[in-house]
Amino acid sequence: MISRITIGLFVAAFVLSLGAVGSVPQSTATAAEMQSIMSEGGRIYDKWYKVVGEDAPKKAHPAYPADKKYAKKPKSNWRCKECHGWDYMGKDGAYASGKHSTGIKGINGMAGADPVKVVALLKDDTHRLGDLMEDEDLAKVALFVAQGQTDMGNYIDAASKSVKGGDAAKGAAYYNTICANCHGRDGTMPKDMGKSLGAQMGNPWEVMHKIVNGQPDEKMPSLRAFGMQPVLDIMAHIATLPKKTK
Ligand code: HEC
Ligand code: HEC
Repeated sequence: MISRITIGLFVAAFVLSLGAVGSVPQSTATAAEMQSIMSEGGRIYDKWYKVVGEDAPKKAHPAYPADKKYAKKPKSNWRCKECHGWDYMGKDGAYASGKHSTGIKGINGMAGADPVKVVALLKDDTHRLGDLMEDEDLAKVALFVAQGQTDMGNYIDAASKSVKGGDAAKGAAYYNTICANCHGRDGTMPKDMGKSLGAQMGNPWEVMHKIVNGQPDEKMPSLRAFGMQPVLDIMAHIATLPKKTK
C-alpha cells in the first residue's frame, strides 16, 4: 500500500505545479484537488487526446493486436479504455470476448500502487506516451489508476448488466435536476449522441465511468465527490428511460 504521505507529496507537488495554491489552506486544497484530479484522470483514461486538446495519433498503437477489430482505428486503439476496459478489468472483464476483446490485462491490479510507478509505465515502450502528453497529465491519469478506480463488480451484475442497490425514484429526482438540462428528461439529447441514455445502459460500465468522471472535453459534471449512492440511483432511473433514439 502506498502511504498517505507519498500521495500527499505527490498531489501537493502538482497542486503547486498547477498554481492552485492561493489563499485556500493547503490541506483543504489538497483534499478537494484529489477529487478533481482523479476525475480528470478518468476522462484522460476515456479519451486522452480530447482532454489534452490534441488530434489522435495517425498510426495504430504499437501494443494493439494487429488481428483485432480496431487495429486500423488509431482514434480507438490509443484510448486506455480500448485495451483495459470501462470496468478496468481488461481480458478478465466485459472485454473478455466480443469486438473489443484484445487479451490485454486490466489496470485493476495497479489500484493502490505508487502513482509515480504508473507514470513511469506510461512512458515505457509499451505505452510511449512520454512525448505525447505532459507530465502533469500523465500524473493525473496515474492518480486515477492508483487511487480513483471504481470497483464496478460491487455495483453491476455482469450477467444481467443491471445496477445493484440503486433507488430509481431518488435517481429520477437527481437526473431531472442534474442531467435533464443537457440530456432531456427522456435521455435522447443532445441530438448528436449516437444512442439514447436508456440504450447506453447496454454498457453499464461505460455509463458508470462517465457519470463518476464526466465526459472528455464537455461541460458534463463529474459526480465523483458525492460517492457512489447517487450514481447508482441515477443509473437505476436511466435504465427505465426509452431505448429508442429520436
Ligand atoms: C494498445 C493497447 C494499450 C493502450 C491504449 C493502453 N495500454 Fe496500458 N497496457 C497495455 C499492455 C499490453 C500492458 C502490459 C500488460 C501485461 O504486462 O501483460 C499494459 C499495462 C498497463 C498497466 C499495468 C497493469 C498491471 O497490472 O501490470 C497500467 C496501469 C496501464 N497499462 C495503464 C494504461 C493507461 C492509463 C493508458 C492510457 C493512458 C493505457 N494503459 C493505454 C496496453 C495498452
Ligand atoms: C452540461 C451538459 C451536460 C450535463 C449536465 C450532463 N451531461 Fe452527459 N453528456 C453531455 C454531452 C455533451 C455528452 C456527449 C454526447 C455525445 O456523445 O454527443 C454527454 C455524454 C454522456 C454519456 C455518454 C454518452 C456517449 O455517447 O458517450 C452519458 C452516459 C451521460 N452523458 C450521462 C449523464 C448523466 C447521468 C448526467 C447527470 C448526472 C449527465 N450526463 C449530465 C453533456 C452533459
